[in-house]
Amino acid sequence: MNDTATTARYRHWRLETADTVAVLTLDVAEQSANVLSRDVLAELEQIVAELAPQYLKGLILRSAKPAGFVAGADVREFERIVEAAGAAELARTGQRVLAGLAALPFPSVALIHGYCLGGGLELALACTYRVARDDAGTRLGLPEVRLGIHPGFAGTLRLPALIGDLPALDLMLSGRTVDARAARRFGLVDEIAPERHLLRAAQALLRRRPPRQRAPWHRQVAGLRWLRPLTARLVRARLVAKVDPRHYPAPHRLLDLWKERASAEREAQSLGELLVSPVSRHLVQLFLESEALKRGARQLPHGIEWIHVIGAGTMGADIAILAAQRGFRVSLQDRHPEVLARAVKRAHEHFRRHYKIPRAAQEALDRLMPDLGGNGIGRADLVIEAIVEDLDAKRALFRELESRLKPTALLATNTSSIPLEDLAAALAEPARLVGLHFFNPVAKMQLIEIVRGGATGELALSRARAFAIALDRLPLDVASRPGFLVNRVLMPYLLEAVRALAEGIPAEVIDNAARDFGMPIGPVELADTVGLDICLAVGERLAPVLKIEVPSILHTYVEHKRLGKKTGRGFYDYDARGRARRSLAARRPPDPQLAERLILRLLNEAMACLREGVVRDPAAVDLGLVYGAGFAPFRGGPMSHARALGEEAMHHGLYRMASQYGAGFAPDPGWAQSGLWKAKPD
Ligand code: NAI
Repeated sequence: MNDTATTARYRHWRLETADTVAVLTLDVAEQSANVLSRDVLAELEQIVAELAPQYLKGLILRSAKPAGFVAGADVREFERIVEAAGAAELARTGQRVLAGLAALPFPSVALIHGYCLGGGLELALACTYRVARDDAGTRLGLPEVRLGIHPGFAGTLRLPALIGDLPALDLMLSGRTVDARAARRFGLVDEIAPERHLLRAAQALLRRRPPRQRAPWHRQVAGLRWLRPLTARLVRARLVAKVDPRHYPAPHRLLDLWKERASAEREAQSLGELLVSPVSRHLVQLFLESEALKRGARQLPHGIEWIHVIGAGTMGADIAILAAQRGFRVSLQDRHPEVLARAVKRAHEHFRRHYKIPRAAQEALDRLMPDLGGNGIGRADLVIEAIVEDLDAKRALFRELESRLKPTALLATNTSSIPLEDLAAALAEPARLVGLHFFNPVAKMQLIEIVRGGATGELALSRARAFAIALDRLPLDVASRPGFLVNRVLMPYLLEAVRALAEGIPAEVIDNAARDFGMPIGPVELADTVGLDICLAVGERLAPVLKIEVPSILHTYVEHKRLGKKTGRGFYDYDARGRARRSLAARRPPDPQLAERLILRLLNEAMACLREGVVRDPAAVDLGLVYGAGFAPFRGGPMSHARALGEEAMHHGLYRMASQYGAGFAPDPGWAQSGLWKAKPD
């Protein structure tokens, strides 16, 4: 037996050798997750150089972090890179280090658990074999496109060679991740094993030394020299339908690289250019800000096991389903048994679709209990109220409920427009009341506004934030002001679109303008989707506060029961599958001036929120509108967009619009005070 340990020489890596097998463990210093920073790569290069001349049977590469293998490159380093050349250099370094690893004279195995993403997966791809832990927490993928870039450590070359061209393009272009079993099916990993057999599986591979995995011939056909241009054309057509190359160039660049059989050097150069582009800067900034928000929210435990939801309508049912899916015990109450029955049916369908294993679906369903009598109230650690939007009804409920709560129970309301203070007035202990404002559809929307009322206690707030994290949602602190942040900012934008409609501009033209700007859905279709009755109700509630007017056309539509998608007719007519029927006006080229009008109205309201302290800082505005309303992520959010436009253009634009379209465009005083353009040049 030949044992050596060279632990002390490296800050991030631990190297041990036993029985001529080297085990290299990554444990990045002062970080909870492993990332491939420059330092980590530099050390790996030294280690590879140290190992290369040794007589070894093999190398096992693994992570000491419970969270996972490697989460990717160190994204914080991106912000410090100012020039494309610097970014390309970083990619070249990574490529060189991984090429050294791949060229070792003995085989290597990556032992993968938890996150294995981006540069982390590229590291694993440079090993001879990959073994992944077989559980739901293991996720592999190359999600770089989500940050406006593409892989840069030769992943665009290694992945197609390993799993075939089309599966590789699918993974890289979508940025989606796969679990261990799917990875095994693709050939992305050689073996999967439960935790206790992982190391042994790796050792066995090193003993057996099977031939390296390669994509079988039929998965290489699409990449044959003479078929490649055709494949690229077909893939491009699908890609263009999903992502606009002007907004998100990275996946299109990636496809170019593949089509041209580009070298690793071209990959590095292309990555360099993308990484310093405004699109990537904005996406990286959003990513870092959201991570910071989540980190802050994780600091205190929520102490919640049992949740009681009152109101099993649109929102309550989906909130209960989400909580049960995330492992909480949930009792769901409604005054109508048939509403409860519908909610349970919905849960059943949702879990069956979500979980591939029937037992897991059944377990989730078992965690969700219909509770007509409200027996869960006294046992719950958190009670969420999601009944009709009516102050008196909510107050009556709170009065009846409070004496039955556990002393430590947290009380939350999903109200979207009633000030928390008005609700808290019904309580003996108002400090425990917090707003948990979910967005519709709950399963999809990433944001939860955490609403602080005048009397809300700090403990209630921190527990609410931690709970949102447990639901895998982004908790954004907002003050209890009308409409909070997202609805307040969206409403004037929607109403501006309705005004444009009333002026005779076709709905298709309005929606095209917004989509061309980068909105996922046009404002007219959004209004139809939310429901014109709800738009009218929210609009009327906000109108006196925001000094806006609700266009009369909205009243007319609601009076005629043209309520939008749900009634099959709104501003658009809908077919049986809920798709809007568009007129020929949809073919007109997008109108940038109309987009400017809609967006400037939104930006002006966003600034008003910031000035009034609805949220803490510009970053919070951006996160709220991107994650709560889908504001063009590649523009970084309203405040980043205003910053990119520049002070002069913003002011001119607003004055011009104000003279044409009225006071809603008069520059908010916040613009002059904010220091937005001084604080962080784009
Ligand atoms: P909904 O009308 O679909 O559901 C309300 C449910 O509460 C009904 O099933 C009703 O039977 C039940 N209910 C009423 N009073 C009750 C009581 N005293 N005890 C037990 N059950 C009672 O309403 P929706 O849309 O789910 O809204 C609920 C809350 O969520 C409202 O405060 C609304 O402002 C808020 N909200 C709604 C959003 C949406 O898009 N629908 C988005 C975000 C918040």
